[in-house]
Amino acid sequence: MAEADLKPRRILSGMQATGELHLGHLLGVLTNFVRLQEEAECFFMVANLHSLTTFYADYRAAHRFIAPMVADWLAAGISPEKAVIFVQSDVPEHTELAQILAMFTPLSWLERNPTYKDKQANSEKELDSYGFLGYPVLQAADILLYDASHVPIGEDQLPHLELTREIARRFNHYYGSQKAVFTIPQPLLSQFPKVPGTDGRKMSKSYNNAILLAEPEQTLEKKLLTMKTDTARVRRSDPGNPENCPVFSYYDFFAPELKNEIAAGCRTAALGCIDCKKQLLSRMLPRLEPFRQKRRELAEKKNLIHDILHEGAQKARKVAAATLARAKEAMGLAQGYWL
Ligand code: TRP
Ligand code: SF4
Repeated sequence: MAEADLKPRRILSGMQATGELHLGHLLGVLTNFVRLQEEAECFFMVANLHSLTTFYADYRAAHRFIAPMVADWLAAGISPEKAVIFVQSDVPEHTELAQILAMFTPLSWLERNPTYKDKQANSEKELDSYGFLGYPVLQAADILLYDASHVPIGEDQLPHLELTREIARRFNHYYGSQKAVFTIPQPLLSQFPKVPGTDGRKMSKSYNNAILLAEPEQTLEKKLLTMKTDTARVRRSDPGNPENCPVFSYYDFFAPELKNEIAAGCRTAALGCIDCKKQLLSRMLPRLEPFRQKRRELAEKKNLIHDILHEGAQKARKVAAATLARAKEAMGLAQGYWL
């Protein structure tokens, strides 16, 4: 079991539900999920306990976006027939394993974690809880419970995955004398790790530069037409460099077959930015419309999402409970061991 295979066999990934999903999620994460569910056993989890590390004082804020996010997942093509979709807190094995892993996770590993310091420094919220410091321990439990061979994540999550690997190795070292208990997972980075927002910075809700997946046609047009381009193109006749233009990077995903032509037009100033954006819009609209359509249908089917998550939790629990039992047995916590 020890080192994971090269080919994805078992996938676990999680996402916090903190707001409406945007193109950054679609290109960076969801497209990967949709592809992976065809080739591996997939578990996709709503990390609502992780959300409570920041939204502890207002759990409603942490939970309000769960159903809409799952609807976004389904509309993007994640299928409950192909993947197990569940909410973290519906599977209590996560908290139990996290507490067990906490016993031997050195504080220094957690204090070194770059996202810990970053978030603490940049948040208005008081983030000095035991739970917040232990965020990566809970994440390790999420991953190890499913014997994940691979974890699709964004680059920002790499330090967390590295911690998961260290925690798993330490567990195997202490308690896996006969055979390794936990699989050491590998990261799977997306093809489009950094999707730019309308201002050219990384797309993020907090920068107010996001194009939502469910973006209505009119605001999509407005956002695209006012989107930042290569700043060298001050006048229409100034040639541009598509490499410096966030609009151009959308062509990668929405119309790769036009890239050469667009790049040439931009470099010679034969093509103006407005035309360039309009062409992109005409490619984006038909690609996003089926998503919006499905999303509208799902909005009326609250019960469907409830049922999917209920069934998902049951399936996830079976796997999680078996792994937890194995881990507890390895460290002398199986029932009757004290006799
Ligand atoms: N920390 C991840 C994020 O904020 C969410 C997450 C929780 C996760 N558990 C996970 C991601 C397990 C991958 C695997 O994006
Ligand atoms: Fe960007 Fe297109 Fe304008 Fe070139 S023509 S700068 S690629 S928007």
